[in-house]
Amino acid sequence: MRLKGRDLVELTDYTPEETRFIVETGLEMKRRFYAGERVIPVLPGRTIALIFEKPSTRTRVSFEVAARQLGAGSLYLGWNDLQLARGETLGDTARTLSRYVDGIVARVKEHWKVVELANYSSVPVINGLSDLSHPVQALGDMMTILEKKGRLSGIRLAFVGDGSDNVLNSLIVAASRLGVHIVVASPRELRPNGELLKNALEVSKETGATIEFTEDPREAVKGADVVYTDVWVSMGQEALREERVRLLTPYQVNSKLMSIAGSKAIFMHCLPAKRGEEVTDEVMDGPQSVVWDQAENRLHIQKAVLALLIP
Ligand code: CP
Ligand code: NVA
Repeated sequence: MRLKGRDLVELTDYTPEETRFIVETGLEMKRRFYAGERVIPVLPGRTIALIFEKPSTRTRVSFEVAARQLGAGSLYLGWNDLQLARGETLGDTARTLSRYVDGIVARVKEHWKVVELANYSSVPVINGLSDLSHPVQALGDMMTILEKKGRLSGIRLAFVGDGSDNVLNSLIVAASRLGVHIVVASPRELRPNGELLKNALEVSKETGATIEFTEDPREAVKGADVVYTDVWVSMGQEALREERVRLLTPYQVNSKLMSIAGSKAIFMHCLPAKRGEEVTDEVMDGPQSVVWDQAENRLHIQKAVLALLIP
């Protein structure tokens, strides 16, 4: 399957077959790494630029290491160190960088900025998180579920917490392509992005995926294979903290909620976690938690993404 030269701004641009191919390539990258192939030099001499407007631990480090493990180099460019901070346009920045580098990973405050970069760039642009979505996270998460559960089709994933979360938006789009059933437990004020949901519902018709909503976390986790949560206050939403804590306190993932899910359910979180808010220490550090494997898999899935997309 040929994906060279494609952007990854949103998974809505990818078919079920393409999505599955990326996820399976991620698992293959991991298998080869542990079989001793520390470097798979498919991108010699290439350079990946990372433009970040917000902080990052996992995305930054895993992309930089991924590039290195593929024989490529990487450049971390803080937003405020670029002329962007002085008003150079995203279009001019994208056109300039395209003359130096072979791919751009961008983490932006507002989603339109990554779209703008992709519109003007002649090299692939990969969304490394925006206020709307986090597609590489969702791909890595699907890889983790496949690794842990041996399948994706028919898997039941309960997302408990902020129903308007960027990671959830991408999980819904990824799940729709892979036949995963998502149940979202959130207050009715917090619901996923309508456009992405519409696309996911459309694609679900051909894959058998389903998306349900409830306000009751217990109902959502009953029979779940995966219990997933994310922070109540995402980057850039700090002013909403008080309201979010009020709305979301009943949605904490704790031992009591996990006992309703049952012992076979795994716990996932994209991280960083705010321990004591959306998840307790007991669950994060408990036997059902796979969060460290999930974090590791960002490295392998992003090796797949770079290897497949960068010309
Ligand atoms: N999950 C994730 O994207 O983490 P960072 O914010 O540390 O990159
Ligand atoms: N929803 C979180 C995800 C962080 C990886 C945020 O945007 O802050």
